[in-house]
Amino acid sequence: MTHSSRFLSALARQPVDCPPVWLMRQAGRYLPEYRATREQAGSFLQLCKTPELACEVTLQPLRRFDLDAAILFADILLIADAMGLGLQMVETQGPVITQPIRSAKDLANLPHIHPEHDLAYVYQTIRLLRKELPSHIPLIGFAGSPWTVAAYLVEGRGTKEFYALRGLMYGQPDLLHALLHYLTEVTVTYLSAQVKAGAQALMLFDTWGGLLNPVHYLAFSLEYVRQITHALKALYPSLPLILYSKNGAASLEARAGTGVDALGLDWTVDIGHARQRVGQRVALQGNLDPGVLYSSPETLRKEIRAILSSFGPYPGHIFNLGHGIPLDVPPDNIKILVDTVHEG
Ligand code: CP3
Repeated sequence: MTHSSRFLSALARQPVDCPPVWLMRQAGRYLPEYRATREQAGSFLQLCKTPELACEVTLQPLRRFDLDAAILFADILLIADAMGLGLQMVETQGPVITQPIRSAKDLANLPHIHPEHDLAYVYQTIRLLRKELPSHIPLIGFAGSPWTVAAYLVEGRGTKEFYALRGLMYGQPDLLHALLHYLTEVTVTYLSAQVKAGAQALMLFDTWGGLLNPVHYLAFSLEYVRQITHALKALYPSLPLILYSKNGAASLEARAGTGVDALGLDWTVDIGHARQRVGQRVALQGNLDPGVLYSSPETLRKEIRAILSSFGPYPGHIFNLGHGIPLDVPPDNIKILVDTVHEG
């Protein structure tokens, strides 16, 4: 089967006329029009919960740049809001959860959420987007991996170290496994309803899997990713799935064996070496250092071409950054990036 979309073709490791490109956090604060719409909504959470405005900010980067995919505007922590855990996005601090999960009692008190009802606004945004998007621009739905969502639920905020989480892992592993199991079930329901609403590919963000040693990584992170992948593939065999990890170079082969179609790489791995290690089992997505966006157009072009040539003339490369677009990058550099990738 051939696809009318470069992005879906590359995910299926089929030849394309030029590499597809989309960017993590392509909708966001580096765009003045995003800041204006967020202001109109009143807050980040209100923006997520207003389907017309969430649809608008999803489309904003596509109006400026020749991107090959759209990603739903939402957040991996909206399920914490649906669980009533007091999620706030604090301007200088990031996410804060006022009622973190640290004990068996906290876990027992977690409500059983019903994503189709409690996160109905997400599905409404997806339906609006599918009406607006041209047929060659697929819509990516997403969720956090259970480990990465648990990181915030246990810690109560973003940190570099997540010591409350790691302390719980060593001190009360059964409690953490019970939380991860619960998040796995919710995530399967949350994501399968995204597909029903119109998402054409799904991405799992395992941003904090790289905190773990290899044995713990398999037990506390990858095992639950594998369960989600198997459940979704049983429901939707041809649905493409992408797994993103940060600091995940050590586990490339293990991640390629979970049944996902593509791995998202951060910038600390050479994409050519990664391709040799995983072969044709999965497509690779990445992996420009977002830091290059602060350099000159010449350096930006040089680094983009280095990644394209390191990957080589094989099918299965989706160009992206190694992590999200930072908030103060000049939009002109994003245009240079997208156009340079398409020039090949
Ligand atoms: O354009 C897109 O990429 C789609 C929307 C999207 C957001 N968050 C919007 C957002 C996606 C895919 C995410 C994923 C996400 N959210 C991850 C995984 C990817 C990663 O970045 O590692 C994580 C860990 C989160 C949790 C989260 N949300 C954090 C840590 C923060 C604060 C950091 C920051 O950049 O402010 C957020 C807030 C957030 N999510 C913003 C956006 C556009 C900024 C909020 C604002 O407008 O004030």
